[in-house]
Amino acid sequence: MVQQFMALSQWSNSMKTESAAQPGAPIGVFDSGVGGLTVVREIMRQIPNERIVYFGDTARVPYGNKSRETVTRYSRQIVHFLRTQNVKTIVIACNTASAYALEELEQEIDIPVIGVVKPGAKAAVEATRNGKIGVIATAGTIASKIYSQYIETIAPDASVIGKACPLFVPLVEEGLLQDPVTDEIARRYLTELKDRQIDSLILGCTHYPLIRDTIEKVMGDEVTLVNPAYETARELKELLAERSLLNEKPIGLGEDGHSFYVSDAAEKFQVFANSILKYGILSAKIVNAEKY
Ligand code: DGL
Repeated sequence: MVQQFMALSQWSNSMKTESAAQPGAPIGVFDSGVGGLTVVREIMRQIPNERIVYFGDTARVPYGNKSRETVTRYSRQIVHFLRTQNVKTIVIACNTASAYALEELEQEIDIPVIGVVKPGAKAAVEATRNGKIGVIATAGTIASKIYSQYIETIAPDASVIGKACPLFVPLVEEGLLQDPVTDEIARRYLTELKDRQIDSLILGCTHYPLIRDTIEKVMGDEVTLVNPAYETARELKELLAERSLLNEKPIGLGEDGHSFYVSDAAEKFQVFANSILKYGILSAKIVNAEKY
């Protein structure tokens, strides 16, 4: 009986998804602020025909030191906002929000939602040769143990060493991407991981791919750096292809192109976004996520 009910509800969910979603509909992507633009950059590279509606929660960033309840509440509001934009799927482009909120949100909505944690964890398992995987992320993502739990389910023999690197986010946001201060902080955070002989390292925070060179300098050539943003875009492409939701037509500009929304400080966001995306952002509009 229970099985019949579950089968019926799965069927009705898939019907809802298929009838609501159209290939030409946009993809909703959100993050606590600017960091998720590293995921947007990968989506634009790998599936350039996809239109993106991005929401950066610049009024409430950072998520990395907030509780599970707060991050889940914020994420739910943003998902409700993105639904008003008729998105065909949602990408949680924030490791902390993926760690805390993905499971609940997946149950609550009838379109596919993907986070950045699983794709990143899978890629690290594929990359490791000695089974020692490092994860660097916000304090919240490390405390959630999401990466180690997921890696354990797919590679029970692997060992995972997590390290919170909270100073990396403000360093990136201050633009200190290539700077002696960032070099020094990276050495302090990462030496322990190097000493423990990890051979693959997950960049488990949206900002870290932007200081990849610095991290690489400390870790050396023997350690493979895994960028969950890249893996997430790859998984998104597969998911859209499986559901016949890939957009075939090139997207336009202006109203027909990508849209960017933030909850505060739109100009600062635009400057940062234009520095990392090739796509010229005409404007980022302010939306009060609390209303959703
Ligand atoms: N986007 C967050 C993450 O990937 C980092 C910034 C924050 O703490 O909000 O975990």
